[in-house]
Amino acid sequence: MPNNTVIEELRLEHITKRFPGVLACDDISLSVGKHEVLALVGENGAGKTTLMNIVMGLYQADEGSMFINGEKVSFKSPNDAFAYGIGMVHQQYMLVPNMTVLENIALGMKDSWHFTVDLSSVRKRIEEISDHYGLKVDPDAFVWQLSVGEQQRVELVKTLCLGAKFLILDEPTSALTPQETDELIVLLKNMSRELSIIFISHKLNEVKALSDKVSILRHGRVVFNGRTADYSPSEIAALMTGHEVEIASNNSEKTKGKDVLVIENLVVKSDRGFNALDGFNLTVKEGEIVGLAGVSGNGQRELAEAINGIRKTESGKIIFYGEEIQNLTPNGVIKKGMGYIPEERNTEGIVPSMSIKENIILKDSDGRFSSHHILKNKEIEKYASTLRESYDIRSPHIFVAAGSLSGGNIQKVILAREIDRNPKFLVCVYPIRGLDMGAAEFIHRLLLDLRNKGVGILLISEELEEIMNLSDRIAVIFKGKNQKMMDAKEATTDKLGILMAGVNDED
Ligand SMILES: Nc1ncnc2c1ncn2[C@@H]1O[C@H](COP(=O)(O)OP(=O)(O)OP(=O)(O)O)[C@@H](O)[C@H]1O
Ligand SMILES: [Mg+2]
Repeated sequence: MPNNTVIEELRLEHITKRFPGVLACDDISLSVGKHEVLALVGENGAGKTTLMNIVMGLYQADEGSMFINGEKVSFKSPNDAFAYGIGMVHQQYMLVPNMTVLENIALGMKDSWHFTVDLSSVRKRIEEISDHYGLKVDPDAFVWQLSVGEQQRVELVKTLCLGAKFLILDEPTSALTPQETDELIVLLKNMSRELSIIFISHKLNEVKALSDKVSILRHGRVVFNGRTADYSPSEIAALMTGHEVEIASNNSEKTKGKDVLVIENLVVKSDRGFNALDGFNLTVKEGEIVGLAGVSGNGQRELAEAINGIRKTESGKIIFYGEEIQNLTPNGVIKKGMGYIPEERNTEGIVPSMSIKENIILKDSDGRFSSHHILKNKEIEKYASTLRESYDIRSPHIFVAAGSLSGGNIQKVILAREIDRNPKFLVCVYPIRGLDMGAAEFIHRLLLDLRNKGVGILLISEELEEIMNLSDRIAVIFKGKNQKMMDAKEATTDKLGILMAGVNDED
């Protein structure tokens, strides 16, 4: 039985996987040894997730084999992988929203003899794992109430509760706060003394801090293998993209436009019933990027949703171009010219079963692409194809379901739709989450272009570097209040960090 097998080496040989019109993995060979950390990097759509899904038995390779300790294995489902102690934390979380954290974790832990689960023992196991690794989760919270970051933490706890000794982590830090990321990296580094890890990330400082080896994928092929210690992050970046990546930054003069979004004393409840926004104030001017820094869970999600008509406000005002828009319908807000890049790309950003083409025109119900209730298909196809090209959405064509795209490419579909509709204002929540470095830089340039055309932008992010590079002014949100508003030139990481922790020197 494989149950207690210690994995001395997991080796992939000549793995090839095709999807209709896509060669996702092309003759990939690599290996991971005991207590070794392999970083798997590469641009969006390079084949990283697909390869890991093959290791987990979720997909079957068309060609090639997998070996554990030199013995050929063939996994038909994740259960087979679990039997060897291989567990994966997925890029797109796979929890059941209307069940609690405890129930979700228990789902994978049924007693194979009795087909039952003793919830109190699962609760105990969760407590042990969270204590041991310092991963805090609330077992009784419903998953639908959790932020993406919290859900990712639950996934990790779940995988560890199942007894994984070989961890596959697909962009585990993309939804974590910088502090959480630092903590997770330290934690994983410690865990790597007991476990083997395959770690996928677009952030090369993490790759550098954590991994022993790095493999770079491009268009489904391994184009580089090396020891991480021998290369600097910028050398890895150059190997990955084939060129130097410049950082886009806002060097233009401060704008003197009029206020276009004014938020006054806004009170909005969270899903859990407390005041997530508790007298929040903010203004954004025409042609200005206001960065909203803060640790996620301090009201950012509720703010973005309230502005876009998705969440009811209790009191206060949202004034857009002089008109009150609080509690307007989402469609009403869209018609006013608001663009929105939401946090949850798969549920709020796209309709996964619809094609790229349909997702691109999702918000244009105003006759731009239809006449007498009939869609102008030729025009739509032309438009969607143009965007697919200019935003480099990696897909065989525009007719594939958006849900089948790689994580970063789904994000590009949303960005293309929202940016190219020429919004009057844009609310961006973590806009570059999951994007590779080249794509992130491209999007940052587009945001700066929009700003220069006079569009106001509210940039909600936890990446202080992103906020400081792009913003004209920066606000810090803490417990539903705007702690402080400052000129971006005055901001430093330290200053923002202190404000994000709730300390305000003017208190
Ligand atoms: N189930 C599927 N059906 C069809 N095509 C798929 C499917 N899964 C992945 N693909 C395609 O395979 C290619 C590789 O995707 P994959 O998700 O492995 O990329 P990735 O390297 O993980 O990218 P990202 O950094 O954006 O997450 C993409 O072109 C993607 O559209
Ligand atoms: Mg992926």
